[in-house]
Amino acid sequence: MPTSNAFDVSRRGVLAGGVATAATATVPIAAEAKPQSAPASSDPRLPVTLKVNGKSAQVSLDPRTTLLDALREHWKLTGTKKGCDHGQCGACTVIVEGRRINSCLTLAVMHDGDEVTTIEGLGSPGDLHPMQAAFVRHDGYQCGYCTPGQICSAVAVLDEIKNGIPSHVTEDVAAAPGFSIEEVKERMSGNICRCGAYANIFDAIADVAGEAKERRA
Ligand code: FES
Ligand code: FES
Repeated sequence: MPTSNAFDVSRRGVLAGGVATAATATVPIAAEAKPQSAPASSDPRLPVTLKVNGKSAQVSLDPRTTLLDALREHWKLTGTKKGCDHGQCGACTVIVEGRRINSCLTLAVMHDGDEVTTIEGLGSPGDLHPMQAAFVRHDGYQCGYCTPGQICSAVAVLDEIKNGIPSHVTEDVAAAPGFSIEEVKERMSGNICRCGAYANIFDAIADVAGEAKERRA
């Protein structure tokens, strides 16, 4: 029958053996380590060309730059807002190649050559886009921070419905989706408004869609 002494000796042996193994295993690795060579270039920037609001321009960017930061810091288009910077609020929504995206979730270098529309490109104070004018008419904002993203999203939402793109609440995905409060609520659900202007935002979208009779829930 084994004694507790025998167990102690055996355990020490195992531990000592493990340490010895680890030591022998690490020595050759350390011996083989070579000094790292210096990077070929200390400038990590890459040229990126975007067509923003109809105008092409090239800038040199760190490849880690998000599209949102590129638009705000390099193109100086600060209408696009940074809310969460994590894809959760929709404040940074812009339209790229006809589709709305969260510009904080994508890198600018991934859009080399793409056409980007921001809130500044939809309309100007003297020449508002119909969706911008409807937001004004229906009071679709309070503080206004989420508004550029809401408007870019709303413009793209109506295009999605018009082009027959289904959403998660479309009952028959084989049929063209129609305009309804459920469709608009689902499609706009990625655009958060802390001021809670949702009812007026819906009225503005319904107005532009020619569905003014559709009432808010
Ligand atoms: Fe992009 Fe919030 S800032 S989703
Ligand atoms: Fe203030 Fe939407 S208007 S967050």
